[in-house]
Amino acid sequence: MAAVEVALAGHVRSRAGFVTEAASHLMEAGGKRFRPLLVLLAAETGDRPDSDDVVTAACVVELTHLASLYHDDVMDEADLRRGAETAHARWGNLVAILTGDFLFSKSSELTAELGADAVRIQAQTFTRLVEGQILETVAPGPDEDPLAHYLDVVAGKTGSLIATSARYGARFGGASREVEEALTAYGEIVGSAFQLSDDILDIASESDESGKTPGTDLREGVPTLPVLMARAAADPADARLVELLDGDLADDSRHAEALDLLRKHPAMEQARAYVVARAQEAKDQLAAVPPGPVRDALEAFADVVASRTA
Ligand code: IPE
Ligand code: IPE
Ligand code: MG
Ligand code: MG
Repeated sequence: MAAVEVALAGHVRSRAGFVTEAASHLMEAGGKRFRPLLVLLAAETGDRPDSDDVVTAACVVELTHLASLYHDDVMDEADLRRGAETAHARWGNLVAILTGDFLFSKSSELTAELGADAVRIQAQTFTRLVEGQILETVAPGPDEDPLAHYLDVVAGKTGSLIATSARYGARFGGASREVEEALTAYGEIVGSAFQLSDDILDIASESDESGKTPGTDLREGVPTLPVLMARAAADPADARLVELLDGDLADDSRHAEALDLLRKHPAMEQARAYVVARAQEAKDQLAAVPPGPVRDALEAFADVVASRTA
């Protein structure tokens, strides 16, 4: 991870000082580096986990992720990210969007070093990620189950890149085709669980833990897992919550009341249990990985996703 960190700092540089400043802003603000960590971990299933390509692949996924965060904060009108001011809050939407594009280009340039297959995988991944982000902004179709729609959004916007992180790690670490496929399936489920956990934290946690503003999904009218589960429960005791959810949550006092009601709602526990079940499902994909410390670490990684508090 130390090698990845050094390489990343080089990849966000531009010939223009201001572009370097904007592109390194969120990188320097922090971040868990969850995706590159998964690349390195997955690479341990192969016979060359220390290869340069593994480090390159780890940088590719983090840069792609970083690019998506610049764009995401524009679409979510978020002011706080990684405990720092977001790019759009500091420099405006135009700079935020173009910096996201710059980072995505850097990521693509780097992917070319990994060969044509890796480029194709990265392009397909970004297609799914962007489709997920766009589908989040549209309501489910009349015959579509809102939960199924949301799970489809989550698999696209987050599952796709985490699946690719696991795939790249296995592939460039020299794992067998069978293990690569198993890890990709594992990454897809872990990735969705990671996003669902994030949705729970958006309601449950405070800024000093998450580095983000709580209740952003509510304010933006994105019905995430706890909200969908609370609505599906259709409990008459939830009349006020449903009324708030149906109305304008950009209003501060209505937003605070909805957040408070949701935090106390049994749907929070139900959502947590759902994420734990998904983590188990992810671990069930690992049969092709021989028992030992690497498989144990991959299992622990899935567990952390389900129980994370930041
Ligand atoms: C944030 O991702 C966006 C989601 C997919 C939930 P992370 O939670 O991995 O963000 P950083 O990289 O640690 O800031
Ligand atoms: C982020 O989703 C997904 C991507 C960046 C592709 P969210 O909007 O739910 O994530 P946060 O809460 O802003 O990190
Ligand atoms: Mg978003
Ligand atoms: Mg967001």
